Amino acid sequence: MTVDRTRPVDGAGADGTEPGRLYGPEFAADPRRVYAALRAHGDLAPVELAPGIPATLVIGYDAALEVMRDAGRFPRDGSRWQQDVPADCPVLPMLMYRPNTLSANGPVHARLRSVITDSLDRVDTGALRGHVETAAARLVDAFAADGEADLIGQYARVLPLLVFNELFGCPPEIGDRLVEGMSGIFDGTSAEEANAVLNRATRDLVAHKRATPGADVTSWMIGHPAELDDDEMAEQIALLLGAGTEPEQNLIANGLRLLLSDDRFGGDLSGGSLPIEDALDEILWTDPPMANFGATFPRQDVEFRGRVLPAHRPVVISYAAANTDPSRTPHQRTGNRAHLAFAAGAHTCPAKGHARLIASAAIEMLLDRLPDMELAVPPDELEWRPGPFHRALVALPVRFPQQ
Ligand code: HEM
Repeated sequence: MTVDRTRPVDGAGADGTEPGRLYGPEFAADPRRVYAALRAHGDLAPVELAPGIPATLVIGYDAALEVMRDAGRFPRDGSRWQQDVPADCPVLPMLMYRPNTLSANGPVHARLRSVITDSLDRVDTGALRGHVETAAARLVDAFAADGEADLIGQYARVLPLLVFNELFGCPPEIGDRLVEGMSGIFDGTSAEEANAVLNRATRDLVAHKRATPGADVTSWMIGHPAELDDDEMAEQIALLLGAGTEPEQNLIANGLRLLLSDDRFGGDLSGGSLPIEDALDEILWTDPPMANFGATFPRQDVEFRGRVLPAHRPVVISYAAANTDPSRTPHQRTGNRAHLAFAAGAHTCPAKGHARLIASAAIEMLLDRLPDMELAVPPDELEWRPGPFHRALVALPVRFPQQ
């Protein structure tokens, strides 16, 4: 169909199409069908993130890059938007303004981000790999004798948390409370209570590290010349925990699903040559762990690519749809890192290298220990968690010869 580029992106166009629903069981089961239908709108599509919560979804690859690189027209900070959103709105915890680098613009963003990037850059990759291997060995030991496991609950979910605790010098008692708070926020249930638990735990970690600094990311952030105060520190730690664990879990799990279910990759599993990096490239293009995110909030109506984007309506980047934009499909995904899974522009993920290393070491360790692993259910029976932002399996049941 021809796109009428003078039409606002409001979904109530002359073609009578409804906004795409990024919520509910149908979206969770088959997001690609929703993205395919949205292509009729061109690069920008009207969607609902939750019932009654409209947004513009950027689904074209070039358009996504343009938005991510234009912080002037597409600024962060949804505080004006959230004034009109009900307190129990399920997407509020993920999109609400927080005093962290993700919500910040301009010099405030640059200051907060420099603390994060400078501290993450000090992480030794050999040590990071060691943390992953220790965590992986401990988790596999716990289920290797059972002959079966759920690789979400018993592996992919827990491993990034164990690695986070090591990297950030976090004692297990505080780590447990961090996880409890963060899970509540991602699940969108009892956000207020989850926020309170998370707040207390991050503040306790900062106090602990101010008293007993060590060779860890929290201590490096505290010692950074930007001199973040306790509140600023706690907010950035909460962001790092959320940003560093949930998508990491999904990259590990989605990579494992592909390796275990797709003949192009699985054929070699027990042959000793594991194309893990190829599988990760494929996933980062086709099933990125964060499917739709990077919300910006135009402060006035913005004319963009011949369309009008209304003020204060979230503009959300669909990394998943942009990566699979039919007009830009790459000939070759293997070894091709031009995907948008880690975003681009000022807010691009500062931990791409760490994220990739953690996932690839986690998968390698698991398949080295249990090379004859196979899925315990047909791949099309695997269930996906609802919600617009992540591409996340509910469970990944496998079986293998007992050890
Ligand atoms: C597979 C794993 C990961 C994926 C797919 C991923 C993806 C992303 C994406 C898409 C963004 C942009 C969000 C936006 O623009 O609003 C982002 C930002 C960010 N990520 Fe990651 N990430 C991963 C792992 C990590 C890890 C391990 C850490 C830290 C230890 C981390 C820390 C951050 C931070 C702090 C930001 C915000 C940067 C800013 O606002 O300037 N991420 N990530």
